[in-house]
Amino acid sequence: MRLVSANDYQQLSQLAADFILEKVKQAEKLTLGLATGSTPIGTYQLIIEDYQHNKTSYSHVTTFNLDEYVGIKPTDPNSYHYFMEQKLFKHLPITSEQIHIPNGLAVDLEEECRLYESRIKAHEGIDLQLLGIGSNGHIGFNEPGTTVNSRTHIVNLTEETRRSNARFFEALSEVPTQAITMGLGTIMDSKEILLLVSGKSKSKALFDLLEKKPDPSLPASILDSHPNVTIIADQDALQYVK
Ligand code: F6R
Repeated sequence: MRLVSANDYQQLSQLAADFILEKVKQAEKLTLGLATGSTPIGTYQLIIEDYQHNKTSYSHVTTFNLDEYVGIKPTDPNSYHYFMEQKLFKHLPITSEQIHIPNGLAVDLEEECRLYESRIKAHEGIDLQLLGIGSNGHIGFNEPGTTVNSRTHIVNLTEETRRSNARFFEALSEVPTQAITMGLGTIMDSKEILLLVSGKSKSKALFDLLEKKPDPSLPASILDSHPNVTIIADQDALQYVK
């Protein structure tokens, strides 16, 4: 794993946007794995600004998001569909055919998981997967204890994750109890991974990821056995790392 140290969130976002945009500009065909959450918002904003200045083409780009809540409509402001639309897609020349996000309203959720896997395969896998990390070390919605070869699946969200995500909802009781997420095996199949880590609340997870042996209690530690991972972390996240 390569560690890139950023001074602050702004620089982290700039480094991440440059990293992604280089691939977008160089590749003839690119399948990008995307994440939601607070961490990539600055990166997405800079990608939008690049488009506004440079009219970068996205006609060769396909996207697959990591996860989506179960039981929330795509038009619900708390859905990851809505987040991606507002924070990135509506500002780029990208059509709905190019975008994939798990359907948390599917009647048959198990079938939706299988379909999601087969769509990724049909695009010959993910070239670059962008990740954030939870304070408990989760990636996607793969909580501690998730099996390493898991594929896209339905998860019951932990209380910690629900509480942490409750800031976006009116009340904790409104936070969904389930989500669909790419599995750890799905993420590990990506050809390249870019993990963004920002803020003191992530510093313990980042320290464990960098300094301890891989352990299922820290799902992100599986990244240690991936051949092509770049971590961009800011100084707050790096506070325990020497
Ligand atoms: C988002 C996702 C999550 C987040 C993680 C960090 O699609 O899969 O694993 O990356 O919860 O979230 P933030 O960036 O809000 O701290």
